Amino acid sequence: MGIRKCAAALFLLAVGACNESEVPAEQRVVGGDPERGRAIIDTVECGVCHIIPGVAGAHGIVGPSLEKFGHRQLVGGVAPNHPAILTRWVKDAPEIAPNTGMPSLPLTEDEARHVAAYLYTLR
Ligand code: HEC
Repeated sequence: MGIRKCAAALFLLAVGACNESEVPAEQRVVGGDPERGRAIIDTVECGVCHIIPGVAGAHGIVGPSLEKFGHRQLVGGVAPNHPAILTRWVKDAPEIAPNTGMPSLPLTEDEARHVAAYLYTLR
């Protein structure tokens, strides 16, 4: 490969990598702070049931791994993966899917938004 072609390929790779890690507009959670979300996930111990990249000790296998969750089309396989739905799901999954194995969790509306914001960074 010529040096110019090679540089072009590297450039495309870099752009691709940036797009990979950036949360797209339709997944921005208004008022959600991913770093606070990560801390809340740690405190509430979502990791007892889920593998969650970036959260120490989150190796649970009761629920699905949340690796690359930002790319998931559906939440719990039943509802579109949109910020408003995910925010409801993380605090009260049975409200959306009555037969789900995921319990309601003691999160405030704000905390749920932070948690959702963190999950969308998983790409
Ligand atoms: C007692 C175990 C348990 C705990 C604790 C738990 N979950 Fe879940 N979670 C599940 C199970 C089981 C599912 C699969 C539910 C289904 O498909 O109906 C699930 C599904 C999910 C999904 C949808 C995943 C997908 O691929 O569609 C998300 C997102 C999620 N949980 C986030 C969380 C977060 C965030 C917390 C902590 C605030 C949490 N969970 C705590 C058991 C748990």
